[in-house]
Amino acid sequence: MTYVVTENCINCKFQDCVTVCPVDCFYEGENFLVIHPDECIDCGVCEPECPADAIRADTEPGLETWLAINAKYAARWPVITEIGTVPADAQDWNGRPGKAALLITGEAPAEPQARKPVYPSGDEAPAAQREGYEVDGAMVAFPEAGADTAPVELLPRDSEEDDGFEVDGLRVTP
Ligand code: SF4
Ligand code: F3S
Repeated sequence: MTYVVTENCINCKFQDCVTVCPVDCFYEGENFLVIHPDECIDCGVCEPECPADAIRADTEPGLETWLAINAKYAARWPVITEIGTVPADAQDWNGRPGKAALLITGEAPAEPQARKPVYPSGDEAPAAQREGYEVDGAMVAFPEAGADTAPVELLPRDSEEDDGFEVDGLRVTP
């Protein structure tokens, strides 16, 4: 087994998890961290440390997609061994629904070309951005501040679903 980082880390990236991992198996993307499944020793100490409750044991059902995302990007992103800059609006993002669509999947942090549109925090979004944004050719509504948490359903790429959008080669249905 391994532990995996899941959707609610996106745009929160509190990094408390990094400070406790005894084997330094966290890897850093622009707005998300992942755990290397082959390096994690299943000690479990990171799970309760995450303020976003984003770390799960892969023995929980329904985590196959997030496990695949962790494995894929742990092989591409740089290791992170100490806490860096926590996003100023991290708490604003905690628990918002629909964040899977905001996962930035570039090769490394701070790769400008890897950026996807990210909703500014609070009510400061320009009027033109309030309706949503485009991901892989589909319009995606912004998560609403204060909205109830509603996990995004991740489906295989060859899904018959017409709605939703695609992230990391997977179909996402809000
Ligand atoms: Fe690191 Fe332990 Fe968390 Fe695995 S379970 S990522 S080894 S702290
Ligand atoms: Fe993400 Fe939680 Fe670590 S928000 S960076 S998994 S502490």
